[in-house]
Amino acid sequence: MKTNRTFTMIKPDAVENGYIGAILAKINEAGFKIVALKMTQMSKRDAQLFYAVHAQRPFFSSLVDFMVSGPIVAAILEKENAVEDFRKLIGATNPADAEDGTIRKLFAASIQNNAIHGSDSDENAMIESYFHFATREMF
Ligand code: CMP
Repeated sequence: MKTNRTFTMIKPDAVENGYIGAILAKINEAGFKIVALKMTQMSKRDAQLFYAVHAQRPFFSSLVDFMVSGPIVAAILEKENAVEDFRKLIGATNPADAEDGTIRKLFAASIQNNAIHGSDSDENAMIESYFHFATREMF
């Protein structure tokens, strides 16, 4: 996969609150091109694997329960410097610390229910993209 790409999920809280359209609009307005997109629901096993790096954290089981609580929207986004620029667009993990205008500031309620995920490196962007998408679903 190209390295000018990142992976994102609109999380169950934002889907439930009706924010899919508004969040995708923000992503487009910021110059990202959507090259893969799907609405899906993770199984418990999926969420445990996706967040395996956090398995020893005290919030892990609560995070897994949250991520399987409803559908998500998964997407791959293309833009120069995609990983870093997208993390700026979504803002700090805790919406209370997120800058004005960021997606988490606008749409997130708490550090766990924080509306959106963004990959933290090119390597993880690739791993996370292939976790959710088949090659024929990436454009
Ligand atoms: P995300 O960027 O998807 O990466 C890991 C997720 O774990 C994070 O967003 C939050 O949803 C969740 N998370 C991170 N830190 C905490 C915390 N201190 N308490 C609860 N959930 C957290």
